[in-house]
Amino acid sequence: MTEFQPEPYGVEACVDAAVATWGHDSTRLLQVLREVQERYNHVPPAAMESIALRLGLPIARIRGVAAFYDFIASEPTGMYRVLFSDNVTDRMRGSAGLMQQMCHRLWLEPGKVAEDGLASVERTSFLGFCDQAPSLLVNQRPVTRLDAARIDQLCELMLARRPVEEWPGELFATEQRIWRKGPLLSDPLQPGDAIRAALSRADAAGAGYQAVLDEIKRANLLGRGGAGFTTGVKWESCRRQAVEPRVVVCNADEGEPGTFKDRVLLTSYFDLVCEGMAVAACGIGASLGFIYLRGEYRYLLESLQELLARRRAQGLLGRSICGREGFDFDVEIHVGAGSYVCGEASALVESLEGKRGIPRNRPPRLAEKGYLGLPTIVNNVETYCIAALILLHGAEWFRSYGTAQSSGTKLISVSGDCERPGVYEYPLGVTVRQVLDDCGAGRTIAVQCGGPSGTCLDQDEFDRRIAFEDIESGGAFMVFNEERDMFQVARHFSHFFARESCGFCTPCRVGTSLLARLMDRISDGRGSQHDLQTIEELQRLLHCSSHCGLGESAGNPLADTLQRFRPAYERRLIAHGVEPAFDLDGALARARRMTGRDDPGAHIGETA
Ligand SMILES: Cc1cc2nc3c(=O)[nH]c(=O)nc-3n(C[C@H](O)[C@H](O)[C@H](O)COP(=O)(O)O)c2cc1C
Ligand code: SF4
Repeated sequence: MTEFQPEPYGVEACVDAAVATWGHDSTRLLQVLREVQERYNHVPPAAMESIALRLGLPIARIRGVAAFYDFIASEPTGMYRVLFSDNVTDRMRGSAGLMQQMCHRLWLEPGKVAEDGLASVERTSFLGFCDQAPSLLVNQRPVTRLDAARIDQLCELMLARRPVEEWPGELFATEQRIWRKGPLLSDPLQPGDAIRAALSRADAAGAGYQAVLDEIKRANLLGRGGAGFTTGVKWESCRRQAVEPRVVVCNADEGEPGTFKDRVLLTSYFDLVCEGMAVAACGIGASLGFIYLRGEYRYLLESLQELLARRRAQGLLGRSICGREGFDFDVEIHVGAGSYVCGEASALVESLEGKRGIPRNRPPRLAEKGYLGLPTIVNNVETYCIAALILLHGAEWFRSYGTAQSSGTKLISVSGDCERPGVYEYPLGVTVRQVLDDCGAGRTIAVQCGGPSGTCLDQDEFDRRIAFEDIESGGAFMVFNEERDMFQVARHFSHFFARESCGFCTPCRVGTSLLARLMDRISDGRGSQHDLQTIEELQRLLHCSSHCGLGESAGNPLADTLQRFRPAYERRLIAHGVEPAFDLDGALARARRMTGRDDPGAHIGETA
């Protein structure tokens, strides 16, 4: 990462180096673009042409991919590119004012580059630090727990043009706040333990690798990424495909606002993640592995690569893992570039192939035809950690936690109005009230479980349970107390979905923008009862006719809050209840000008 704009002659050399690092492989296009972006703080047109030439791809493809990802800029950004996290929990802690303070101090407008090219300050949907909000990225490094003093310090460093490599390390310190450990977070697993356990189960059962799949199935492990699909079934269907090699993908995109438990696992439990991926590889007979790391977690890349290298040296990755002839499996890390939809499994696979992250049509499922048409499994970071422990301790042990339908424990990312935001591990079936008590929440009026695409609960529902049979959740748990306006929370989420829609299908592309506009209209005091009906209709339409889960759930926070916090909407509506959707008086303005009439009789509403 550099803060200095290099001379133009450097472009060719920079592209050459990036293309060589990624093996002149056109499926690595996004990674090449990312590396050029890191060097220049944008991808100059000359670099795009050069990449097209070297990878043998049409220039339109390069431009299309670059334009899809928020973190790839085709125009110069500032020497310091600052991205403020814009989750509702950041706003609740004053991020908007802090961003204003920075823009004022640096003499620039949000979203624009300073005239001298020093800095640019933008918003991004969510950085993954809402337990330490507000936060920002400066040239891809996170700065958390922002306050006015910190903003001043950052501005001084930027104005002095100090390279970020020389900034005080304490500025970039992040915390892994774990408040409650269960069997996952307290397991003293040693590297290789779970892989050896998987191999010995396979040997003992005489059923070979099927024993691994059987153990996962017996455990009734349901995926922890949000959708709760049965892991064993997914793995088995992949194993059944005759095509090789098979592929194991770890979904570390963690884009759902309010979730950060995967960041904690990647930072402090990375061996467990790798063990789980290797166990999966053993079960499905895979030799290729990928970790799709969200662009916001780019700062973790070097340390994760070091850990992978250490595991290779320990014989836990690469050829003949744990000395087992024929058990070859390695992992490559791909870094995303700021697109929420790329967390959707098929969009993620598209992105891994160096394309725009547009969700695929199904069938075929990824287990049949995934990465480059190969049988592929995609699982969440936490799912792999649990899979490793199941092979180590057995399915019965796992089923001893949780409920009959929802086995095991779940990591919950708690943020918002509470004293102890951070990660909590609970057996599935824990009540919302228990989590609220443990995190020190008071005067709570609502909890948003599972992020904006999840469920909003009010006080009457705090005895409901986080479990697949009740409240399904990827783990986000945002707490709102009585000072919060749930209408504004929902409005914020509506803008999140409008911003993140990939635009591929019409219901979502148009519907999410319409919802955001309707919410703005209501916020401005121009909304009517009719608008509330329209919101409900749009939510149903999006749910039924969108191409992927993003559009399907984009109306949820609005429908949920309308149902539970209707007065927060109604008190904003225009007094007489109905406002025509069509501004007839405005439409007649031209006719009035042409006829030279502007008396009261020529205005709608003024004749009565
Ligand atoms: C818009 C969208 C974003 C998603 N983001 C993530 C994510 O960041 N991490 C994740 O594990 N799953 C995410 N998912 C779910 C994945 O599509 C997929 O179901 C999951 O990775 C499967 O892993 P699991 O079975 O272990 O839960 C997302 C789904 C949608 C529709
Ligand atoms: S639902 Fe939205 S995010 Fe999903 S494919 Fe359609 S436009 Fe893209």
